[in-house]
Amino acid sequence: MSSAKSLPLEPIEKASLDELQALQLQRLRHTLAHAYANSPVYKAKFDAVGVHPDDCKSLADLAKFPFTTKQDLRDNYPFGMFAVPREQVSRIHASSGTTGKPTVVGYTRNDIDIWATVVARSIRASGARQGDMVHVSYGYGLFTGGLGAHYGAEKLGLTVVPFGGGQTEKQIQLIQDFRPDIIMVTPSYMLAVCEEVERMGLDPRELSLRIGIFGAEPWTNEMRRAIEQRMAIDAVDIYGLSEVMGPGVANECVETKDGPTIWEDHFYPEIIDPETGQVLPDGESGELVFTSLTKEALPIIRYRTRDLTRLLPGTARTMRRMEKITGRSDDMMIIRGVNVFPTQIEELILKRAELSPHYQCVLTREGPMDNLKVTVETAPGVTIESLEARSAAKLLQHEIKVYVGSSVEIELKAEGGIERSVGKARRVVDLRPK
Ligand code: DLL
Repeated sequence: MSSAKSLPLEPIEKASLDELQALQLQRLRHTLAHAYANSPVYKAKFDAVGVHPDDCKSLADLAKFPFTTKQDLRDNYPFGMFAVPREQVSRIHASSGTTGKPTVVGYTRNDIDIWATVVARSIRASGARQGDMVHVSYGYGLFTGGLGAHYGAEKLGLTVVPFGGGQTEKQIQLIQDFRPDIIMVTPSYMLAVCEEVERMGLDPRELSLRIGIFGAEPWTNEMRRAIEQRMAIDAVDIYGLSEVMGPGVANECVETKDGPTIWEDHFYPEIIDPETGQVLPDGESGELVFTSLTKEALPIIRYRTRDLTRLLPGTARTMRRMEKITGRSDDMMIIRGVNVFPTQIEELILKRAELSPHYQCVLTREGPMDNLKVTVETAPGVTIESLEARSAAKLLQHEIKVYVGSSVEIELKAEGGIERSVGKARRVVDLRPK
């Protein structure tokens, strides 16, 4: 049994804004100098636009520096952007792009330690208590999810079960036998596990789990409510990306569940207009950009994440929050001029009890026109021919037209008709000719 003891926060989590900003400026200046002195790629990028690390006298001066993109990492594959000799790199991770070479990132021992610290902070913010056991279902290996979660949970002093993705029945067996308090997994795979639990005739609410720490893909507040209700747990959002660190760049605080708090003492956020690159004030929506403040092996300056969100003032902590991510610019579909994100569709699907949260957006082209078909499974026990399923599909189609602004086709699938992923779900299937 878990003891009910809470784990103390780090002082910086409750520091004053002045204190936080002073630390950020000091670390930012150090990071820019380190990148310029030790990474020829950054030196060339800064020189090309005529900026020098000494030009950064305030946090706002960061806007003078050039952006870094995924393409920069690809162009310098595999280790060309590292700012320390390869021998000082203690770990490599990589994210598998859908096309071409993977994006490779590296960490010094100190980087790994800081990463573990921010993940530990994230798990604590999610409501972990002393003595808790954490079941990790994020994939281990080159993906940052598994090992990132693992080191953080260990650093917090918890008991870790390093399961990884897949083997759903075995996962459930161990969850039943070991009785973990916390699960860390993508929300889409959580649903697949939940479904299997129910198929086995068990009630997910009866499992020992108290908290789910879900991320690595966009998911809506509607999905949060659905999972919380189905499993009787607190569902909190963890955000991160390999180029910036991995999981634990930001995490929701369980007491507010109002969007991930960005661990701003290590990762400095900006929001830009994705078209012009101009920095936007807090509260305005745009593309999230990050600058690392303490990384050694791969300092990252103004990395364009492609994630769309806005910055919000701190609530449970001093540090700012980001609004739950509604989509990536590369996931955005344009259907007859209307921008559509899969999460908008998800929100509407989850309002219908006759439908399940398993869905995909299938893009096809007829002549010059792009068409969107939403394929969605009916809820367990509801057949696709039934009147209730057909009227749910009609209502969904109507609501997508009204709230999203697009005419779409709906195709109902029987239970299991949509592929289940063990990691990140594939929400957009693009069948348009290249
Ligand atoms: O997905 C790191 C991670 C692992 C985060 C486990 C959370 C949990 P990448 O594979 O590099 O790293 O993918 C990063 O995933 O730019 C977002 O588009 C998306 N993403 C990650 N977390 C969230 C989230 C990991 N909580 C990309 N909400 C990011 C929405 C997320 N999207």
